[in-house]
Amino acid sequence: MKLLAPSILSADFANLGKDVLMCNNSQCDWLHLDVMDGVFVPNISFGLPVIKAIKKHATKPLDVHLMIVNPDPFITHFKDAGADNLTVHYEACTHLHRTVDGIKKAGMKAGVAINPHTPVHLLHDIIADIDLVCVMSVNPGFGGQKFIENTYSKIEALVQLIQQRNSKALIEIDGGVDMNNIKKLYTTGANVLVAGNAVFSTENPTQTIAAMKGIV
Ligand code: DX5
Ligand code: ZN
Repeated sequence: MKLLAPSILSADFANLGKDVLMCNNSQCDWLHLDVMDGVFVPNISFGLPVIKAIKKHATKPLDVHLMIVNPDPFITHFKDAGADNLTVHYEACTHLHRTVDGIKKAGMKAGVAINPHTPVHLLHDIIADIDLVCVMSVNPGFGGQKFIENTYSKIEALVQLIQQRNSKALIEIDGGVDMNNIKKLYTTGANVLVAGNAVFSTENPTQTIAAMKGIV
């Protein structure tokens, strides 16, 4: 499975409806929505009301990436706002199994994100329970950062772990994805690529998305 998820963090927040429509009419697969709390990451983005507003117009699944501490009390709120996938950070969840269980019980696909310094093997005892692993290929908090090359070896390790544990988890790569690394990422084993800056900074994002999907 080779999916593409434009990251709304790089969209024009004063014209969000327009960018959501662009995604609806493009070949992209999901919309990636980054929620930041200014505590887990050194930035604040947007939250529940914005996701709710996007849901009214989006025709594709909402892939919500929580970069927040203590996500548990908000799980059902994100479901109500329209999240289809809910991803939490390994580093932010003391009781990760309980959090993942809560996400699935709320009726969403459960994802776990790992920061660039977090080794893949730490997912050994949760990988069979989750639908998606989001491998951060930049330090989370901002769009437009440089891709970290060590990500490829993490994908290789993850492919092995997923097979070994008989997991169905998808591998998502988030940060610094662009035209130059897409092919290698997919061929190494990535299933979902998130792209913010590489889509929204171009003159014709619809064409860029088509070009990215064409690379597969
Ligand atoms: C970073 C976010 C990413 C970000 C990616 O913390 O999780 O989803 O929007 O942006 P680009 O593709 O510009 O690196
Ligand atoms: Zn993200």
